[in-house]
Amino acid sequence: MTAAPTLPGTVTVRVPAKVNLQLKVGQRRADGYHDLATVFQAVSLHDQVSVARWDAWEVVPSGTYAAGIPTDEGNLAVRAAKLVAERCHIDESLSIRIDKDIPIAGGMAGGSADAAATLLACDQLWGLGLDRDEMASMAAELGSDVTFPLHGGTAMASGRGEQIAPVLARGTFYWVFAVSDQGLSTPAVYAECDRLRERSGERVPSPEIDAELMGALRQGDAVALGRALHNDLEPAAFSLRPELKELRDAGVDFGALGGMVSGSGPTVAFLTASHEAALDLSVSLAAADVAGDLRRAKGPVHGAHVVTGSRD
Ligand code: C5P
Repeated sequence: MTAAPTLPGTVTVRVPAKVNLQLKVGQRRADGYHDLATVFQAVSLHDQVSVARWDAWEVVPSGTYAAGIPTDEGNLAVRAAKLVAERCHIDESLSIRIDKDIPIAGGMAGGSADAAATLLACDQLWGLGLDRDEMASMAAELGSDVTFPLHGGTAMASGRGEQIAPVLARGTFYWVFAVSDQGLSTPAVYAECDRLRERSGERVPSPEIDAELMGALRQGDAVALGRALHNDLEPAAFSLRPELKELRDAGVDFGALGGMVSGSGPTVAFLTASHEAALDLSVSLAAADVAGDLRRAKGPVHGAHVVTGSRD
C-alpha cells in the first residue's frame, strides 16, 4: 500500500542539480575509479525528498521525471536511508517520496542529490544531530557525487569527487540544459574514456583545474567562464552518442558563451550571458529541433536544506 500524500511528521528536503564547470579525469586507479579534479556548481533545478515513518520501506515518485525513478533498493535514496538507520541503530522503515525535477541519468547527479537529501532528511526526522564529517562519510560511501549536493554553491572536488572545498565565485550564471530522453551509463562513459585514451596512447596528466576558470569565477565573468568550460569525459560521450556533438555545436553557433556535456552526459550544458539570452538560446535550439527537453536554470544556488518538517 502507498502512503498518504503527507504523513504526519514528514520531513522535506529540497536539493539542487549540479553542473561540472570543469571535469578533469586522471588515470584509472586500482580500485576502478578515476582521480578527478572538478569544479561543481549547484543549479536551480531541484528535487524534493520527503521522508516519514511508515510500516514498510517504500519509494513514491512524483514530478516531471517520476517515470524513471527506481522504487526498489536500486534507488540510492533508499540505500542512503538504510545506511543512516544501520549506522545509528534505528529499526524503522520509511516512506520516501521523491518529487523529481532533475533529469534522470543525465550527468546532473540527480540520483546522488536524492541520496544527499535523504541523509539530511533522516538526520532531521530521527533527531540524530549528525555532524558534517559523519554526513560526509556516509555520502562518500554512497557515491562519488553525493557529497557536493550537501554543500551546494560552487566548489572544487578532488579524490573520486567526494573531497570538497568551497571556491570563491561572484555573480549569477545563466544556463540552458538540453536533456536527452535516453540516459548514458556513468561507468560506460568512463570505460569509453579509458578506451579512447588507450587507443590514442596519450599520456594522462594528473588532473588539475585551470587558473582561467578560477579567475573567471572570482571575477564573475561569464564570457571567460564560457571559454574555460571543459569536460574530459566529453569525447567519450560524443563517441557513444555522436548526435551530442551536433547539439553542442548548434548551441555554440546560436550564441552560447560555452557549451559542453554535463558530467558523464548525455545532458548538454550551455552557459549564456543573461536570463534573456538563455531564453533566446532555448527558443533557437527548440526551433532547430536539435534538442529534446530544454531546461533553464541559474547558479550557484544553496545545497540541500530542510524546507518543512520537524521532529515528532
Ligand atoms: O561513485 P559512483 O557510484 O557514482 O560512480 C559510478 C561509476 O562511475 C563508478 O563505478 C566508476 O565506473 C565511475 N567513476 C569513476 N571515477 C570517479 C567517479 C565515478 O571511474 N571518480
